[in-house]
Amino acid sequence: MNVDLVIRGGTLVEADWMGPSDLFVSEGRVAAIVAPGTPAPDGAQIVDATGRLVMPGGVDPHCHVGFTSGEFTSRDDYAECTTAAVFGGTTTIVDFAIPRPGEVPIEVARAQRAKADQGWCDSALHASVVAWDDTVPDQLRTLASEGVVTVKMFTTYRGESMAEPDTILKTMQVLQEVGGMVVIHCEANAIIEEDQRRAAGRGEIDAGHMHDSRSALAETAAVAEVLAIAESIGAPVYFVHQSTPAAVDLVADARRRGVRAFTESVAHHLVLDDAHYLGAHPERFVCCPPLRDRETVDALGEYLFNGEITTIGSDHCCYDTAQKETYPHDVRIMPNGLPGVETRLPVIFSEFVSKRGLSPRRFVEATAANPAKVNGLYPRKGTLRPGSDADIVLWDPAATWTIRTGDLHMATDYTPYEGMEVTGRPADVFVRGERVVAEGAFVGVRPTGRHVPAGAVDTTVV
Ligand code: URP
Ligand code: ZN
Ligand code: ZN
Repeated sequence: MNVDLVIRGGTLVEADWMGPSDLFVSEGRVAAIVAPGTPAPDGAQIVDATGRLVMPGGVDPHCHVGFTSGEFTSRDDYAECTTAAVFGGTTTIVDFAIPRPGEVPIEVARAQRAKADQGWCDSALHASVVAWDDTVPDQLRTLASEGVVTVKMFTTYRGESMAEPDTILKTMQVLQEVGGMVVIHCEANAIIEEDQRRAAGRGEIDAGHMHDSRSALAETAAVAEVLAIAESIGAPVYFVHQSTPAAVDLVADARRRGVRAFTESVAHHLVLDDAHYLGAHPERFVCCPPLRDRETVDALGEYLFNGEITTIGSDHCCYDTAQKETYPHDVRIMPNGLPGVETRLPVIFSEFVSKRGLSPRRFVEATAANPAKVNGLYPRKGTLRPGSDADIVLWDPAATWTIRTGDLHMATDYTPYEGMEVTGRPADVFVRGERVVAEGAFVGVRPTGRHVPAGAVDTTVV
């Protein structure tokens, strides 16, 4: 074994195991997990991880890069998004290829996938189906053979990306054949449009009323319908950015009936509340579903402890303030989504591991191992078992710092977490054995990102 890197003296954290261990890395892959102090082979670079948690790099299952919605395109490209990702301890992102009206899903997916080699870390891709036609099944089969097996769908955003229920069902059927899965944004569009029509009539459709314009009921109504569709044909389904306990309960109950259904929550719904819509910059917090009230946020967090939340994503959308403030008076046309690929891991570690006692193993499970599994990327990603890519984060669990936009690397001019005091941060980050961040400083030499082809999704998770 030609060992070129040894990570020595740290505490290895895997989803199913944690303890003092050294790591041997060979040619970009984990070669062995060895007892602390095992002599390093000649010529190997030795990195001291004393006091650090040695974790698989984060896998962000929900990250929009250069995302176009309405008249706005979020500000980052692959180089920028993945620079921010690695600073935040994430070494794999899963991006989206969402066709604009009239575009062909497979063409959009291939174009987006071709950008992967501009990245500083690896990426995978969700395709998307908006409208059904006779070519869609073959497109999905071909995409699966090219390593894209998850398909994003929406029950909302009429005229942009909303799919009808029969399109959702037929897409699930094809994906069943190829080991894939629909990943879906659930908000009942009819309820939202009516709520927004009434809000506009009251003069309350501005960002300051965002939390009233997309109700929790709209979310649960759509989740219930999509679950029923999946259950009726025995298909797996993954719900993105679930924002309320009621929505998560529907999925957990379905799972107990044998439905292969999964919950993703995103960092901002687990941490931030709707008081931000009453603050000085409500537009900066406009996202769908919206931030919920404090009681809901706290209750949602409990599902991280009881295991009902399968994954934590960022739903990163790198709009800047100028874009967010273009139409402050109307949430129906302002760009929605928050920047977060860089802050996902530090914020969740701080709020849940440091402050509330979530185990580091569960942190790794929800932020790396499970996202890799449900996206067909495991065990190449999401674990440091021998043979896996040596995507490694040396995490300093004791570092205390304050989140400031100026210290972050996302291609925007704000963070929704401005001024938040956090405990824990990634100190060193390796992508396939190459160090890209050293003691918080960027040391990458050249972008080495690749598209990671997904295999069949693992629906045995949880
Ligand atoms: O508000 C959000 N989440 N914007 C990004 C697109 C989506 O719905 O995921
Ligand atoms: Zn969404
Ligand atoms: Zn999203």
